[in-house]
Amino acid sequence: MASFSLFLHIFSIVLLTFCSLSCAQNHRNISLGSSLAPLRNNTSWLSPSGDFAFGFRPLDTDESSFLLAVWFDKIESKTVVWYAIQDKEPAIVKAGASVELTTAGELVLKDQTGILWSANSVSNASYAAMLDTGEFILVGANRSPRWTTFQEPRDTMLPSQVLTRQLNLQSRLLDTDFSNGRFKLSMQADGNLVLYAVNVPSGYQYDPYWASNTVGNGTQLIFNQSAGTLTLDLNNNTEMSITSTKIGSTASYYQRATLDPDGVFRHYVHPKNHTIIGGWTYEWTSMDFQPKGICTHEFELGSGICGFNSYCKTGGNASVDCECAPQYSFIDLNRKYKGCKPDFAPQNCEADESTANQLFEFKTLTDVDWPLSDYELYNPTNEEQCRNECLIDCFCAVAIFRPSSGTCWKKKLPLSNGQLSNSVDRRAFLKVPRVNNTTSQSSPSISKDKEPKRTWILVGSLFLGGSVIMLLLAIFLVTYSFKNKRSTNAGQSASSFAMSGLRSFTYGELEEGTNGFRDEVGRGASAVVYKGTIVIDEAMTCVAVKKLDKVQAETEKEFTNEMQSIGRTYHKNLVRLVGFCCQGTHRLLVYEFMSNGSLVTLLTGDARPSWDRRVQVAFGIARGLLYLHEECINQIIHCDIKPQNVLLDEHFVPRISDFGLAKLLKTDQTRTRTDIRGTKGYVAPEWFRQAGVTTKVDVYSFGVMLLEIICCRRNVELELGDSEEAILTDWVNDRFRDGRLDLVVGDDEEALLDMRRLDRFVKVALWCIQEEPSMRPTMLKVTQMLDGAVPVPIPPEPSSYISSLQ
Ligand SMILES: *[C@@H]1O[C@H](CO)[C@@H](O)[C@H](O)[C@H]1NC(C)=O
Ligand SMILES: *[C@@H]1O[C@H](CO)[C@@H](O)[C@H](O)[C@H]1NC(C)=O
Ligand SMILES: *[C@@H]1O[C@H](CO)[C@@H](O)[C@H](O)[C@H]1NC(C)=O
Ligand SMILES: *[C@@H]1O[C@H](CO)[C@@H](O)[C@H](O)[C@H]1NC(C)=O
Ligand SMILES: *[C@@H]1O[C@H](CO)[C@@H](O)[C@H](O)[C@H]1NC(C)=O
Ligand SMILES: *[C@@H]1O[C@H](CO)[C@@H](O)[C@H](O)[C@H]1NC(C)=O
Ligand SMILES: *[C@@H]1O[C@H](CO)[C@@H](O)[C@H](O)[C@H]1NC(C)=O
Ligand SMILES: *[C@@H]1O[C@H](CO)[C@@H](O)[C@H](O)[C@H]1NC(C)=O
Ligand SMILES: *[C@@H]1O[C@H](CO)[C@@H](O)[C@H](O)[C@H]1NC(C)=O
Ligand SMILES: *[C@@H]1O[C@H](CO)[C@@H](O)[C@H](O)[C@H]1NC(C)=O
Ligand SMILES: *[C@@H]1O[C@H](CO)[C@@H](O)[C@H](O)[C@H]1NC(C)=O
Repeated sequence: MASFSLFLHIFSIVLLTFCSLSCAQNHRNISLGSSLAPLRNNTSWLSPSGDFAFGFRPLDTDESSFLLAVWFDKIESKTVVWYAIQDKEPAIVKAGASVELTTAGELVLKDQTGILWSANSVSNASYAAMLDTGEFILVGANRSPRWTTFQEPRDTMLPSQVLTRQLNLQSRLLDTDFSNGRFKLSMQADGNLVLYAVNVPSGYQYDPYWASNTVGNGTQLIFNQSAGTLTLDLNNNTEMSITSTKIGSTASYYQRATLDPDGVFRHYVHPKNHTIIGGWTYEWTSMDFQPKGICTHEFELGSGICGFNSYCKTGGNASVDCECAPQYSFIDLNRKYKGCKPDFAPQNCEADESTANQLFEFKTLTDVDWPLSDYELYNPTNEEQCRNECLIDCFCAVAIFRPSSGTCWKKKLPLSNGQLSNSVDRRAFLKVPRVNNTTSQSSPSISKDKEPKRTWILVGSLFLGGSVIMLLLAIFLVTYSFKNKRSTNAGQSASSFAMSGLRSFTYGELEEGTNGFRDEVGRGASAVVYKGTIVIDEAMTCVAVKKLDKVQAETEKEFTNEMQSIGRTYHKNLVRLVGFCCQGTHRLLVYEFMSNGSLVTLLTGDARPSWDRRVQVAFGIARGLLYLHEECINQIIHCDIKPQNVLLDEHFVPRISDFGLAKLLKTDQTRTRTDIRGTKGYVAPEWFRQAGVTTKVDVYSFGVMLLEIICCRRNVELELGDSEEAILTDWVNDRFRDGRLDLVVGDDEEALLDMRRLDRFVKVALWCIQEEPSMRPTMLKVTQMLDGAVPVPIPPEPSSYISSLQ
């Protein structure tokens, strides 16, 4: 019965549509006192052509609820292009509601409970009109528009619509859920057009994942009907193409550009009638879109484009598919962005490690990665050990193994930023429960088996706890991995891959391995470095042999002790000492060879390294220094941190070299201006003041180097002469005070796009180069600030607290 009356109502709406087509002009002006109501004769106001309607549109998911909206009325799907929003929620009403253009000239939506929405508190309008462009306007007494739907865009732009500075498009949550969604297109006040991911429901803005990079130059985004393009106007009277369609006659098509719920901004066309030539289907077709390759963006926070524990796949027309990891399933199939849950009970952390193998196994993934979910790293190791470490670790969800470097990463839940990636040099192992075919496969979590029942009841009830447990586990995990962070590396050096195998070479061996010290790869104040090849563990291995020439005449025992101490210093961001030679007066150190040279070559080479790579390098160096200062057995102050002493391995992981030598080369540290071990430009001011040397000298040098990494140049550029840019530390400090950090990175668009991190990094660097050592943070604080784990206060002027010694 109800559905029959509904049918009648819909039928009457259709009739009305026909009427309005034939007598369209009469509907042009909507006079004061007019109203609309769902399920009454008049449910919408049409534009003269009948293409667009403003009014109550039944929801596709619930035809007894209505959205106050503007839609394409001639298209069967009645595609919505604008909708009223109140407090981030769409204005959805039931049959009793109405929208009225009051005699006071206000447009209000009300129901039995009172006013639900009004058009931006505009009053005194003389009339309203639904225009053929799809714009609904309230017109004032002087015939100028007082309010229009184009000024309050939602997720869609229409031809002739303009997005001026400070206007945003915000995606819906789902095609059928008009609540504020997870993505935003922002025509920013600074002239940049940017796509952001946002947190639901708070609206917190995560990282941008696309930008036009037109800071200062973009003025507005324009939808040009006749050209079928969306272009960004620049203030030098040129324009930048954002999307374009190549269709013959734009007049035969409807067009729209929508920021879809999956985060892609798509330009769609739809034939106006069924008799269009050229085999077009009578539906919306996406002709162009931004950004290209949405899946590859990595977000620091949040789940990424897809939900947690899923991964992102793009199809031909940038269709974004989110899929669960094997043995995981969507928490809500209709809301895939909520992510996936494991289909099995979590591993019992109290269970005996030896049972892990019976309960869990690995599924090898060839092309999926969750790049930001690492919490542990082993190196060197092998695939077998890697899998085993993950298997017995109840926190480990995925292990990634890279054969070429013998590196193993453990990843934890929830997995974020999942994406398809076809890296040849890595194997991903997803931990899943062993399925024995004798047991029911549909519910492995409550499968009956030979294990003691009590365990399973416990696990089963944990499983029922579902998301709560996941949450608790996540919190526990964060705390745990944090607590363990500091002990891990020390633990490693004592464990199986420790330096127990530090080798003592004869001079002859090294002479032969370096082909008579022929291939010189570096030269410092007190040493020359040669490339060589040496058999280690039955494999030919490239090494760097450092021949010291100014070693204090130490006994062999002292030297060997020093070597043992350096050899025990083992971290992924330090160059590893393989062995040494101490024969007669010869003192040589044998290090692993770093194939990508030093940071100097990276920063000043022909091609500027990507911002991401530089950021990773900065993180790596900070971690290496943190280890030297606070985590290794004997604290080591490097005393000569500079780009020449940071080498890059084959994966561009930064590795600090020459650590532990300060003591060995003690005689050189005569504390005179020229002979100190440090290198001019990187040396902390207290060196010159005969003050005690602490770890803070390394912090200072790190700060200088961080600026060099940010700006991709040397601290002191003599070619720049007296120009204000000549001394990087001063110049960046000045630009920071001016609020012009954009100048610091020049045309580095990636860095400009990552302004928040850039700002954070510069502030950290300025803290590090404070002239007063006690003002400088520790390396622990530095790593936390770089990570964004703690806020970075505004640094004072570096010279403002110079100690009284000066
Ligand atoms: C709409 O109203 C305005 C102002 O009252 C009037 O000038 C105009 O002619 C009207 N247009 C139509 C099509 O009725
Ligand atoms: C709807 O229109 C019909 C005929 O045009 C009229 O008889 C009826 O009273 C109208 N209903 C309402 C609720 O206005
Ligand atoms: C419906 O619209 C027509 C034409 O604008 C108008 O004459 C009629 O009064 C409206 N009916 C209601 C119930 O508002
Ligand atoms: C609307 O018009 C009334 C009477 O002309 C006037 O008092 C009031 O200030 C106007 N309101 C606005 C917002 O213009
Ligand atoms: C802005 O325009 C000026 C002048 O055309 C140009 O020098 C500058 O590089 C532009 N900035 C960006 C971010 O494109
Ligand atoms: C739209 O594009 C056409 C062709 O490129 C151009 O002639 C016209 O001026 C543009 N219109 C607007 C409003 O920019
Ligand atoms: C206008 O500015 C843009 C970017 O700001 C630049 O790429 C373009 O070359 C400029 N065009 C002219 C004619 O100056
Ligand atoms: C369909 O579109 C074509 C081309 O725009 C036009 O010639 C034709 O009259 C249209 N047919 C109808 C039924 O609107
Ligand atoms: C992408 O869109 C074009 C144009 O509509 C269509 O021809 C093609 O089949 C689409 N490809 C996929 C994979 O959907
Ligand atoms: C599955 O089978 C393996 C080997 O057949 C056995 O060791 C293990 O206990 C079984 N696991 C379960 C849960 O039944
Ligand atoms: C379990 O059954 C599936 C299909 O039923 C089969 O492909 C798989 O090899 C079986 N696994 C074991 C361990 O027997």
